[in-house]
Amino acid sequence: MEQKKFYITTPIYYPSDKLHIGHTYCTVATDAMARYKRLQGYNVMFLTGTDEHGQKIELKAKEAGVTPQQFVDNIVEGPKGVKDLWKLMNISYDRFIRTTDDYHVSAIQKIFKKMYEKGDIYKGKYKGKYCTPCESFWTESQLVNGCCPDCGRPVVDAEEEAYFFRLSKYADRVRDLLVNTDFLLPRSRVNEMVHNFIDPGLDDLCVSRTSFKWGVPVDFDPNHVVYVWIDALFNYTTALGFMNDRYPESDYSTFWPADVHFIGKEIVRFHSIIWPAMLMSMDMPLPKHVYGHGWLLLDGGKMSKSKGNVVDPYLLAERYSADALRYFLLRDFPFGSDGNFSNELLINRINMDLANDLGNLLSRTTAMADKYFGGILPENQAAGPEDDALLEKAKGLRARYEADMEAYAFQNGLSDVFEVIDAANKYIDATAPWVLAKSEETKPRLARVLYNLAETLRICTVLLQPFMPDTCVKIFAQLNVADEGKTWDSAAVFGTLPVTATLHKGENIFPRIDTAKELAELEALEAAQKAAAQAAQAPAEPEKTEAPAASAELIGDHEEEIDFDTFCKVEMRVAEVRACERMKESKKLLHLTVFDGERERCILSGIAKWFAPEDLIGKKVGIVANLAPRPMMKGKYVSEGMIVAADTDVDGGCAIAFYPDNVPAGARIH
Ligand code: MSP
Repeated sequence: MEQKKFYITTPIYYPSDKLHIGHTYCTVATDAMARYKRLQGYNVMFLTGTDEHGQKIELKAKEAGVTPQQFVDNIVEGPKGVKDLWKLMNISYDRFIRTTDDYHVSAIQKIFKKMYEKGDIYKGKYKGKYCTPCESFWTESQLVNGCCPDCGRPVVDAEEEAYFFRLSKYADRVRDLLVNTDFLLPRSRVNEMVHNFIDPGLDDLCVSRTSFKWGVPVDFDPNHVVYVWIDALFNYTTALGFMNDRYPESDYSTFWPADVHFIGKEIVRFHSIIWPAMLMSMDMPLPKHVYGHGWLLLDGGKMSKSKGNVVDPYLLAERYSADALRYFLLRDFPFGSDGNFSNELLINRINMDLANDLGNLLSRTTAMADKYFGGILPENQAAGPEDDALLEKAKGLRARYEADMEAYAFQNGLSDVFEVIDAANKYIDATAPWVLAKSEETKPRLARVLYNLAETLRICTVLLQPFMPDTCVKIFAQLNVADEGKTWDSAAVFGTLPVTATLHKGENIFPRIDTAKELAELEALEAAQKAAAQAAQAPAEPEKTEAPAASAELIGDHEEEIDFDTFCKVEMRVAEVRACERMKESKKLLHLTVFDGERERCILSGIAKWFAPEDLIGKKVGIVANLAPRPMMKGKYVSEGMIVAADTDVDGGCAIAFYPDNVPAGARIH
């Protein structure tokens, strides 16, 4: 029978900075899935890589005084770079693509040309605001006080030639794909795409740039470079030899279409609208699924290198082991939703699950086998009344785990395994082996109890392999498991270990951590890292004028009449608060990141006195969306709108209306 294939990908990461725990999260999840499928016997292709072109990289390289190629080489291949991180995290990728690889660049040129020759890419005019000294185009919403956000000088209306992709032509087919199939997961992400992007009308997409050079040149019009998202998305196929000779074409025919692309929620639009439309244009099969996972937040807000609030996976993996970090990331956070990262959660999880439950079960089992039988269980064994419940749980585990893993519910898959580990620990308490050891008569019962424990542990370990590969090697060694006892098939069979199992008392796989001491040390280390990151930024000076809450400006004390047209100029929209933080520069302000249906914007709002960040995160609020962006804190932040708030009483209280879940972000408020 032909071996079944499974093709899975991570997003390709921007090497504009060192990667952080959020990037690690997605890659670890992909790795666990790839290992799970290999365990099941699939022929797996696991692709990851880096997305190396674009203006941001060009600018960063310039700042660093190196070429863009040198810049990305250092971040990808250099010490503690992307590849080192994946090695440390034990990421079993089969292929690593860099979009600066020659084969990819030439394939992108061919793909672009093919869509051009088909008529799906055409030359048109890009209209926007142009800053002549910076040679940059800006959209209206990017301007700061009507001026160039980079240099602050006035901009002019201008247009330039650019290539466009006929996205509009594919709108109906893409809509059908999203609404009527399970292409985009979790299902909860479909509404946002359809209501906010497709239904209001899909414009054709500008797919070339002339304002910078660091990209794939359009070979038949070399003033233009290909839009970075076309360059990036097709990586999933060029890495399989599509339109190039670097890899055999048979890889493409074997593995394409992908079984699933794992991606973060903010790039779902690119993967669920633009990507299928381009594949349709190329007459290529579509990936089976795109899964948009949630974000890891820090103190309720988005991690950002420039704010110095990123969590360093290196630090944590080197301190607690890659396996502990991998386990924690996939056990604590439901894959489809956001989760709040904290060191305390990490340490608690290691102590509770890995040291107490798993580590103890292993060390108790092997230590008792050693103490009572010199490590080799005797053949004469006696079943007892406590056995059935444990055996049933262990035998049914693989099926429960499989159902969860197939739904990408890593958290639940792990919780299934740990329920059995918990049951095994309780079985020790119920059977009391130390009492059975007191008499020769009960030794056969003792032997069976230890056998059942070892076998239960073996089954759990088989299923933990995708998550904690190194730890499982250690556990198998202590249980002396032969290769046939490590397979997927063997996880459904209780009784794979020989009756006379030989168990080795070994090292403690997860020593307990002193939580208070460790938290203090981590805090000190992270504060030092943060200070170093901030030293690299301009020092923040407190702003003289604080941003008022919208209530103060929007509704004045004097009810001056305005005509309807004037009212219509105020564009109020519903926005989802995706992150919110207090600001060290100001006690009055909250720093909010809100999603307005199209993009995320930053709003600084003077409501910190009345609202804590956790009151707002995840809520839908009203914003004034077309207020001129306002630089604050000496230009360190640009506030792009206002939260609509009401004065509650004479002493300046404040209330905010929250919209129900069925109101999409971006809905107009009239
Ligand atoms: N280069 C594009 C992807 C192109 S794929 C054809 C890109 N790169 S990125 O480096 O900015 O982000 C890569 C992935 O990391 C995204 O899926 C993003 O969601 C994920 N994460 C970045 N920060 C994250 C968290 N804090 N939490 C979870 N994942 C997040 O976008």
